[in-house]
Amino acid sequence: MTSPDLPAELKAALDGKLRGFSRSDAAGRSATISKTYRDGGGSGGIRSEADALAYALARMPATYAAVTASLNALIEIRPDFAPKSLLDVGAGPGTATWAAAEAFPSLQDFALLDANEALRALALGLVTDSFRLRDVSYERGEARTALAKSDAADLVVASYMIGEISDAEQRTLAELMWEKTRDTLLVVEPGTPAGYARIIALRERLIAMGAHVAAPCPHDGQCPLQPPDWCHFSQRLQRSRAHMQVKGAEVPFEDERFAYVALGRAPVAQRPARVLAQPVVSKIEVTAKLCTTDGLAFRKVPRRAKTDYASARRWRWGDAVN
Ligand SMILES: C[S@@+](CC[C@H](N)C(=O)[O-])C[C@H]1O[C@@H](n2cnc3c(N)ncnc32)[C@H](O)[C@@H]1O
Repeated sequence: MTSPDLPAELKAALDGKLRGFSRSDAAGRSATISKTYRDGGGSGGIRSEADALAYALARMPATYAAVTASLNALIEIRPDFAPKSLLDVGAGPGTATWAAAEAFPSLQDFALLDANEALRALALGLVTDSFRLRDVSYERGEARTALAKSDAADLVVASYMIGEISDAEQRTLAELMWEKTRDTLLVVEPGTPAGYARIIALRERLIAMGAHVAAPCPHDGQCPLQPPDWCHFSQRLQRSRAHMQVKGAEVPFEDERFAYVALGRAPVAQRPARVLAQPVVSKIEVTAKLCTTDGLAFRKVPRRAKTDYASARRWRWGDAVN
């Protein structure tokens, strides 16, 4: 399992960029960027080097953690998956590329694309001293145009990206990304009902085109959750001192809520159930909400079933369990 915290090389590169950069200025810019996101806007307001750095400082650790958690779940289901090439769509500061490089030592070719020049410049600055990533190719352009020109890749990732484009554009982009996927497409979104709805729409569309879910769902059927319920997960990560200053945070960790789907060209061999919420552990039993091949299930594991109870006590939200 890859750690959800930023790798040392990326932390050092970010720290290097932050030297001489005012924390209060970063906090102000980061608050403006966060407000824009909360109000339904996108990354369009990130225009300068300082904006890009403020975005990276505030959001890169959390989106990195969410992508890493999703890749860990994929690897658990597909331990044999060893992609050689990556295509990072809406790559921004390169977050998903760093996460994929950590998760897959097999990766050799990294292609990134994004419309935002400030984020592209930051991404290229961050990889300068990285042995594995310094030769990445990073295309600046609108996703559909840039994708049409891109080579297909074993692993295609869109992290916290599709929410920035219209529903109609999402449909076209989903198909284009799938066209460029040799093996697996991973899409990660914020763990809100809206983020989940985007994931579900893309999932349905691509299953209709022949895709198979590798994670998180143990089936290719309709999602069994009904509103107001929605499928999402949570990843805890450490907060750096700089991050705490910029966010005005008081605790040294944060919990990033995210939704994701990993879709492959071939059906997966194993279909373990997925834990959909933190299980409730009592002295009598463990109660867990699971997504199974037969739909939604609330499994109770009584204490008298000693071995099963002992293992169910260790289940965590997001785990794949048998
Ligand atoms: C919230 S950021 C996420 C960046 C990165 N993937 C991450 O996880 O940190 C969304 C990114 O999508 C890019 N983006 C949004 N719409 C785009 C489009 N139509 N074409 C290319 N890039 C786009 C933005 O420029 C921005 O870098």
